[in-house]
Amino acid sequence: MLAEYSGHGLMTTVTADPIPLVLLDYADPELLEEALTEVARIASTGAFTLGAEVEAFESEFATFCGTDHAIGVSSGTESLHLAFRALGIGPGDEVIVPANSFIATAEAVSLAGATPRLVDVDEDTQLLTPDIVRRALTPRIKAVALVHLFGRTGEAREIAAVAREAGIALVEDCAQAHGAACDGARAGAIGDIGCFSFYPTKNLGAWGDAGAATTNDPALAERMRLLRSHGEQPRYHHRMVGTTARLDALQAAVLRVKLRRLEDWNTRRRELAARLTDGLAGLPGVTVPAPVRDGGDHVYHLYVVRCADRDGLRRALGERGIASAVHYPFPISSTEAYASLGTPPLPASERLAGEILSLPLHPHLTDADADRIVAAVRDVVEGQSTPSRSLGA
Ligand SMILES: Cc1ncc(COP(=O)(O)O)c(C=O)c1O
Repeated sequence: MLAEYSGHGLMTTVTADPIPLVLLDYADPELLEEALTEVARIASTGAFTLGAEVEAFESEFATFCGTDHAIGVSSGTESLHLAFRALGIGPGDEVIVPANSFIATAEAVSLAGATPRLVDVDEDTQLLTPDIVRRALTPRIKAVALVHLFGRTGEAREIAAVAREAGIALVEDCAQAHGAACDGARAGAIGDIGCFSFYPTKNLGAWGDAGAATTNDPALAERMRLLRSHGEQPRYHHRMVGTTARLDALQAAVLRVKLRRLEDWNTRRRELAARLTDGLAGLPGVTVPAPVRDGGDHVYHLYVVRCADRDGLRRALGERGIASAVHYPFPISSTEAYASLGTPPLPASERLAGEILSLPLHPHLTDADADRIVAAVRDVVEGQSTPSRSLGA
């Protein structure tokens, strides 16, 4: 019997053979014990807020990302929100945001008082391109939020050059791309600031909500530190209007234990993705993730295929005990929250939203599980002469 973590706050129970979308740390008893020992150590000190444990994690995470600074915060959303504020972006400003991200990327812009300019993406990589960014530039645009969606780094270097030339900031949304390489650097070390989520299901996940920002800019790092804790430095000297968005010491302790394993987990994710892609290659009606370009990387936070009858495939996989999910079923521009922006049609994002399906992929998945997933998808798709009719049945 295993507990399946199936989304923000949702716990469901599955029995015996089903393959859940993701397995968390309960699936690794050795890791669990090590992290619990660290949690007990922190609890016995009573040092729960900022302090030595958070600083140690920040130093280790900055080293891992190849940046001078890492600032621990309370979530990925806060990391992005405070990054925009630290960059001085606010009312009257606009930020380029891909429409096919999790809504938090846009929300962070709104929380800073600015307006997201939602744009389309390249249909193969599902990422922004330098051309898309160039075409969206206007005098109001003050930054671009570059999302390394699903764990893939695209043309980040080229986009950084476009941003530099235009005099706007580049904020990397690395919530799904911990450790992903990009032309010799790592996600979070390419733009002005990198923003990470450690939501439990992420490649590096805490035991609750947590996040971090990475940067080489000491002034930006200082503003992030002030903003996350009431603008306070020193105690009761409030230098700017901040908030409560600190990383908990307990989360930092868990993250330190897990950071030591991240490289191996990402390697395992890539291996499993290759196995799924090999197994599904050439299957009519199913499009596997595009190959990774030279110098690029993909750490497969999610393994996402496309299928014209996505909902039929999803249903049929569910009947075979294989979980799947849709990340995300609506472009941000189509959500009620952002309808008022009146964004023009974004054809690639809209098509993708109707066809994408995330299959199970996590470091605890076995080769046999991956083969079962391949066999099930093939069984569903190949077993039918007209996939759209039969899958939808
Ligand atoms: C692309 C992206 N950006 C931002 C976030 C927000 O992170 P958090 O849930 O930690 O606030 C997420 C997390 O789901 C995400 O996937």
